[in-house]
Amino acid sequence: MQVYTLKNNYIEIDFIPRGGQIIAIRVPDANGNVADVVVGYDTLEETLAGDGYFGALCGRYANRIVKGRFEIDGEKFQLDCNNETNHLHGGFDGFHARNWEVNALVSEKYTQAYQLKLSSEDGDQNYPGKLDVSVTYGLTNNNELVIEYEAETSKPTVINLTSHPYFNLHGAGNGSAVNHELQLNASRYTPISASLGTTSGEIASVIDTPFDFTSPKSVKLACESNHEQINLFDGIDHNFVIDHYDGSVRLAGTLMDPESGRKMEVYTDQPGIQIYTGAHFDGSTKGKKGAPIEQCAGIAMETQIFPNSPNYEHFPNAILQPGEKYKHICIYKFC
Ligand code: BGC
Repeated sequence: MQVYTLKNNYIEIDFIPRGGQIIAIRVPDANGNVADVVVGYDTLEETLAGDGYFGALCGRYANRIVKGRFEIDGEKFQLDCNNETNHLHGGFDGFHARNWEVNALVSEKYTQAYQLKLSSEDGDQNYPGKLDVSVTYGLTNNNELVIEYEAETSKPTVINLTSHPYFNLHGAGNGSAVNHELQLNASRYTPISASLGTTSGEIASVIDTPFDFTSPKSVKLACESNHEQINLFDGIDHNFVIDHYDGSVRLAGTLMDPESGRKMEVYTDQPGIQIYTGAHFDGSTKGKKGAPIEQCAGIAMETQIFPNSPNYEHFPNAILQPGEKYKHICIYKFC
């Protein structure tokens, strides 16, 4: 498996064709000390055998669809239930598990870029329609990793693509990210129903809850709260509703490590962002620097439409029609 690298004088990003997995992002702190800020493994061998979602492209529908069921124009579809009773991240053989075709891309927008392509057959994981997907990883002079998604379908289908790195701005393997400060331009979030295992359909205010990141706040404060929504998933595993969504690219949130001073801004044109503090990491596997991967080893910030949108009419549209183009931009900017 080849490792591709995007780099400029400040930042270096490694990825592989399997899942388009971003396996390393090396950035300096204010004193020029470089750290690799994404959770993962030290070797390619461990990466290929390890958690396939680390830094991966997820699809066809990232996040959950309740019981793997949805309908389009009265036709019922049943997807894999690979996450207890739900469908997660496109199923057992989701896009994270595929070998993407990778080609260098020359574009005025980027100092360096690669285009990743995948063709998902009609009926793949039981999704309707042949879906042709292209994802660009572009690096700019402003130290932004820009991820541009595009897709077209042959039949009406559902789609929600995302990228799944876990960020630890202190450096992966250098302890927990729990003391990172998070700020989100989101005054609402989508609470989880314990029985459904994902969004209940409610859109609730974050005010007076641990989910209020409208001003920068330590992730630890939220994770240590006794709020029933935090207890449900042992931390944050929630979708936040980005304020003033209108389909244009806007700042969704900022993650900051007070110790190193490293900061990352996330911009997107999507209506939601999933924040996940890695509840399922139990320290049983070793990651970078041989350190056990524990809860909050890193924080995922996944731009997306809302979980289980195909089953809620008041959630953003998840259906892609033939002749339309799915477009999604996510920018991780290192400051
Ligand atoms: C989800 C988590 C899930 C994880 C798997 C995240 O996007 O929100 O619930 O366990 O992906 O890697």
